[in-house]
Amino acid sequence: MLAYVFAPEIKSFLGRVPPDPRLVIDLGCGPGFTTRLIAETLNARKTVGLDTSQPFLDIAGSEPTDGLDFLHHDVTRAPFPTGAADVLFCHLLLPHLADPAAALRTWASQLRPAGLLLVDEVSDIHTTNPTFRTYLDAAEGLLEGIGGDLYVGRRVEQLGRVPGLRRISSRLVKHPVATAACARMFRLNLNAWGANPYAGLSDQDRTNLAADLDNLTTSPATTDIHWQMRQVTFKATTGG
Ligand SMILES: C[S@@+](CC[C@H](N)C(=O)[O-])C[C@H]1O[C@@H](n2cnc3c(N)ncnc32)[C@H](O)[C@@H]1O
Repeated sequence: MLAYVFAPEIKSFLGRVPPDPRLVIDLGCGPGFTTRLIAETLNARKTVGLDTSQPFLDIAGSEPTDGLDFLHHDVTRAPFPTGAADVLFCHLLLPHLADPAAALRTWASQLRPAGLLLVDEVSDIHTTNPTFRTYLDAAEGLLEGIGGDLYVGRRVEQLGRVPGLRRISSRLVKHPVATAACARMFRLNLNAWGANPYAGLSDQDRTNLAADLDNLTTSPATTDIHWQMRQVTFKATTGG
């Protein structure tokens, strides 16, 4: 769902990468849909997705493809099992990490000289829909519970100098998402959360929210919710 909803803005961001890189790494690749999008868009010699979730990696690797690989690795730890990359791509991963600045420092060490780090994270989500509001408040609490930040794109924008990296561009991209697609995405996440106490939802709240999201999955609306993504490009000042 994530890859489907975000494909246009990811593709436009990837347009900043010089053609035919040797090695591109998708950080926190999930089930590999973003990795496949990157491989198709950049035509790299090799594209590798790294993730810590074995179930996601199993889905990602279920259709073997030339030039595409998926490996189990905690991306907060260096060295990566791939060697240094020309491009590192980070999409919707930083909200799950307690120390984004430390992660960026680690990634700087895994880039070839003049390699690029592309960070594409949520800066803001504006909604007029009360069901989406309830979901987003719960999601914010849940991520704060693990030391993360749903709106980490703002923090990336405010970061000072990161050793080993020079920021070469930063832009805010408005991304309208159709209500039905957003409801499907949130509904899948709600299932995955289970009874996580940090979400601040009682069993009854979760049942109600699930039913409300289910109702929205057939909505024709397109203006209920607007995402703003922060897309920052960094260049390695030293080689990894
Ligand atoms: C919201 S998903 C995003 C997946 C993909 N980047 C996308 O945009 O569709 C976050 C992913 O990050 C992975 N993840 C979280 N912490 C990680 C870590 N320290 N190292 C590697 N993967 C991690 C999770 O397992 C999950 O697959």
